[in-house]
Amino acid sequence: MKLAFIIDPIQNLDPCHDTSVALMEAAHILGHEVWITQANQLSVVESQAWGFLERVELVPIELRTQGWVAANPWYKLSDSHTFCALETMDAVFMRTDPPVTVPYLYATYILDYIDQSHTLVINSPRGIRAANEKMYALQFPSVIPETIVLSDKETIKRFVDVKGSAILKPLGDKAGGGILILSAGDRNFNSIVELSTSQGKVPVMIQTFIPEAKQGDKRIILLDGEPIGAVNRLSGPGEFRNNMATGGTVAKTEITPRELEICAQLAPRLKQDGLIFVGIDVIGGYLTEVNVTSPTGIREIDKLDNTRIGNQVIQWIESEIEKR
Ligand SMILES: Nc1ncnc2c1ncn2[C@@H]1O[C@H](COP(=O)(O)OP(=O)(O)O)[C@@H](O)[C@H]1O
Ligand SMILES: [Mg+2]
Repeated sequence: MKLAFIIDPIQNLDPCHDTSVALMEAAHILGHEVWITQANQLSVVESQAWGFLERVELVPIELRTQGWVAANPWYKLSDSHTFCALETMDAVFMRTDPPVTVPYLYATYILDYIDQSHTLVINSPRGIRAANEKMYALQFPSVIPETIVLSDKETIKRFVDVKGSAILKPLGDKAGGGILILSAGDRNFNSIVELSTSQGKVPVMIQTFIPEAKQGDKRIILLDGEPIGAVNRLSGPGEFRNNMATGGTVAKTEITPRELEICAQLAPRLKQDGLIFVGIDVIGGYLTEVNVTSPTGIREIDKLDNTRIGNQVIQWIESEIEKR
């Protein structure tokens, strides 16, 4: 198979952490061609999506006692670029990191000009547009904490006064960015809300604070709606956010029956939206986020559980392509 990955500049990726590298490496190991490009290298010509692609070969990382170790360099680019229709690929992974900016959105409109009955696009550009990573979970009210989305300071204040505290989340950020704890009676309350909502112009998410967050924020990876691995993330010292990007640590975990139930609730919707490779976040048995742009976690799960989730994803694509 020929697989294209739309990624951030490859030299900025961390082979021992980034799931995009894990997927590219798995494709390479399983004997497929791996091509890379970036969102700003895409175009539409004669109503077809095209891209400047570079072939890349990867040196697989190795698990040693100190953890994953990568060769230096860990990838080798072929000398020449090719400009070709993305439909010459069997699958195209959109793996640009959020935030979902205007250029990011435009890239998804370009990807609409790939015939998906011919080439798998993961995730579906329509699905990515339909799924704000914070707001997608609101479709499943029975498994989320009490949540409101708004910019009105007085209403936010009433919510926080009733609960004593709450979590504030910007709708377009990631990796713990802009996440705040709101406390009733905080003298900075007004300023915090004004800054977060750009003076009442931008809605934010306000959510019940789940105390079980102390025991971790579980990342569960779903492939075509099925959970295929999970890792627990714990906050680092002096930090309440459990994100890896904010100094969190990872720990081995199991998927509980309640979490399987959450996955089962999401599955039909994810399939309908073409959201094939997704990472959900679960805190204390509540769904808090559905990551669809470039969910991560494979390297951590593979290390803790001695799995090769990337292989499973690529083999799933092989079987889908065979059906076509
Ligand atoms: N309802 C909540 N209660 C307690 N902590 C939360 C809640 N929602 C999020 N958090 C904290 O904020 C972190 C990031 O939240 P999340 O919604 O996953 O956004 P993102 O990871 O995109 O920044 C979590 O790891 C957790 O520590
Ligand atoms: Mg998260």
